Amino acid sequence: MHPPLSKNVTEEIQRLRSKIRYHNYLYFGKAAPEISDREYDILYRQLCNLEALYPQEIPQDSPTQSLGGDDAPALQARHLTPMQSLDNTYSEAEILEFVKRSQKLLSGAPLSFVLEPKIDGVAISLLYRSGHLVRALTRGDGITGEDVTQNALTIRRIPRRLPSFCPEVVEIRGEVFLPRKVFSELNARRVKRGKPLFANPRNAAAGSLKQLDTKVAAARKLDAIFYGLGIWKDENNCQPETDKEFLELLKIWQFSLPPYIWKVKSPAEIFSAIHELEKLRHSLSFEIDGAVIKVNDFRQRDKLGSTTKAPRWAIAFKYESERAESLLKKISVQVGRTGVLTPVAELEPVSIGGCMVSRATLHNEGVIKRKDIREGDYVVIEKAGSIIPAIVGARKDLRSGQEQPFHMTERCPACRGELYQPPGQVLVRCINPQCPAQLQRRLEHFASRGAMDIGGLGKILITKMVKSGLTRKISDIYALKKSDFLLLGTGEKRAETLLCSILESKMRPLWRLIFALGILNVGTTCARALAFRYGSVARLREAKDLESVEDIGTVVASSIRQFFSDAESLCLLYELEKHGVQTAASFDSAQGIDRPLAGQTWVLTGSLSSPRKEIIYQICMRGGYIAESVSGKATYLLAGKNPGSKYGKARRLRIPILDEEEFQRMLKK
Ligand code: IVH
Repeated sequence: MHPPLSKNVTEEIQRLRSKIRYHNYLYFGKAAPEISDREYDILYRQLCNLEALYPQEIPQDSPTQSLGGDDAPALQARHLTPMQSLDNTYSEAEILEFVKRSQKLLSGAPLSFVLEPKIDGVAISLLYRSGHLVRALTRGDGITGEDVTQNALTIRRIPRRLPSFCPEVVEIRGEVFLPRKVFSELNARRVKRGKPLFANPRNAAAGSLKQLDTKVAAARKLDAIFYGLGIWKDENNCQPETDKEFLELLKIWQFSLPPYIWKVKSPAEIFSAIHELEKLRHSLSFEIDGAVIKVNDFRQRDKLGSTTKAPRWAIAFKYESERAESLLKKISVQVGRTGVLTPVAELEPVSIGGCMVSRATLHNEGVIKRKDIREGDYVVIEKAGSIIPAIVGARKDLRSGQEQPFHMTERCPACRGELYQPPGQVLVRCINPQCPAQLQRRLEHFASRGAMDIGGLGKILITKMVKSGLTRKISDIYALKKSDFLLLGTGEKRAETLLCSILESKMRPLWRLIFALGILNVGTTCARALAFRYGSVARLREAKDLESVEDIGTVVASSIRQFFSDAESLCLLYELEKHGVQTAASFDSAQGIDRPLAGQTWVLTGSLSSPRKEIIYQICMRGGYIAESVSGKATYLLAGKNPGSKYGKARRLRIPILDEEEFQRMLKK
């Protein structure tokens, strides 16, 4: 007999079930979990325990029972050797550092690497005893993983048996993934059944591998590729000595290997293989998100060892863009800082490469027509590094017939002003110079991190500044007073911080100002080149030889000339100078000025004995840069009394912390 269910317990069970369903949806459907795996496991176990007490009351659709659902956490088991992760980088400089560090640690011994695609799937470790596949584990926390043996057995390309000459115990590691085509078909079926889409093949593979029902897992047509070795135990211990040898053995044992493998020595060879692979990337039948570079010789690997998280003998170079699929709810039209109207996709939020995306640019009407993208479509979104996400195309195969084609508005959506489309061009512009949306965008750009970096001056505050009429042009930022901010609803402290940030921004390096001006086609690289060449806005304005600057062609040169021939731009520059904004490179590249803090980033916290303004001035005068928050880029934290959370963060990041006395001593040196 089972105990009768009390009202409290019933409610608790219901609460757990709906919570778990919600988190399943976030994890599998949206790839945006809100809780850690551990927290999830606790909830799941609580439910299992209660259901074990009252088994007579378990409905078919309980998350613990939903065979065919996407939501079953499996049994856990320990890896025989830990499954580490990899250090990642997007920078070639860090790859170079990796090579140099390896060379140094190996005292200059001859060194070679293997370079392979980094498969964007789910890591798996297969355990073979006496040549029999006995267990398949996911990576889990690296020490213990989830047992997914039954589902791994549904993957045809995973060998069940190894030949007689294999070691007694061996762990073979690789990646389980869903080929692109299989992923598209799976999502198409899910749309038909009204199920949430998987955002990308990786999530779909993870969901499939954790299926309770092996029949469902088998239907998902997972695939796998192998590249790594965990434990190797045999009597005579004749282990492969290099990665190359190991891969040859894997091939003989009938494992599928990465489709391309380069053997490389010099950094030049590494970079060329990285680029070659990037070109091949989209022709592969599955997704990859980078290249893995590994020391070839196993003895050298042992010498290099590992940190707690990752081996020192390998590094992953990540490619920039990542893709996901989501529902395009609506196409809205945004007015840019030059008045250009851009259609923007409003998406069902989806996670791409770890960040949530709910909007993506659609460039212009022409692109939408050409790609035939409609409101209500499921679309493929690509995010290239820090660049704004873009829509690659629509999943026309998933259409229901309810999707609506897009038509450009007749008037500016912000000011209802007239639009102008230059003949033969695809861009449509709002030509009202007073358009508040344009001003808003110009201010946002000017104050942004990459430009004048005015900390705290974000979108919401700028909207209020524009709406209230307090700022009608960019230079008005520098006329703002504390009372203005209070009027806009900021507190005393925030108003003061904002005024400090505005003050700091007057002394930014010249390239930041050039970029912040928002000259068409002038990005940060170009702005740096211009600042370096001309040294002041005045000289840039007069420049006759723009085309001779590296990377500046006729298009950029003509937009720079256009900018400086516009009366409004000249007014802006005049006003900025009047407010004391530095328009020459005296603080960053001029010679003959003592700039002992050049290249340093300072963060301030706590209450300081002299006014913050003065300290900021002292730092900036010496070429230092003030940042709002502590990051790995900070050189020093200057901590006054009662420091805030920045203090703890700086300690964790091992950033040197100075008190005021030390700071003053440093200035006197
Ligand atoms: S070597 C100690 N090679 O990427 C780990 N890993 O982000 C050595 N991955 O956990 C791994 N393709 O699951 C290696 N060709 C490849 C890979 C690869 C994908 C995964 C692996 C690792 C993750 C790190």
